[in-house]
Amino acid sequence: MPDRLEPELVPRRDFLGIAGLWSAGTAILGSIIGMARLPKPRVLPEASSRFRAGSLAEFSVGSETIIAGHNVRVISTAEGIAAMSMVCTHLGCIISKDASGFSCPCHGSKFDAGGNVLGGPAPRALKWLAVSQAADGSIVVDKKREVEPGLFYQV
Ligand code: FES
Repeated sequence: MPDRLEPELVPRRDFLGIAGLWSAGTAILGSIIGMARLPKPRVLPEASSRFRAGSLAEFSVGSETIIAGHNVRVISTAEGIAAMSMVCTHLGCIISKDASGFSCPCHGSKFDAGGNVLGGPAPRALKWLAVSQAADGSIVVDKKREVEPGLFYQV
């Protein structure tokens, strides 16, 4: 008579049958779970590339405002308003203002006020970004839409 210390051996045929049933059950259960999850998208929503930089009144003619949370510099001139990325075109570090324009702390690229490369490993000028105006008059910058350098949004 089998007891806890000497369990009854399962015959090989029974073992293979039980293992096959468990495998089939697991596969069916996995398929059902997979099908149940299909209607739900498995992507993470990305934050919008457009953001409100501020009201028009905040950007007086001749001012330069760095929107730190977005790494964008908003330039206001008599021509209009423009936005320039503060992300280095070398490897993506955030540039900072210095005496001669802008410099990158990572590998030393230098940019002038117009975003042109003055030196360092940066392969190209800083990106100029699309600027528009929302219905309430605030200035909207799109960080993913690049415009040609020197393009100002007329306000
Ligand atoms: Fe700016 Fe390398 S990331 S110089």
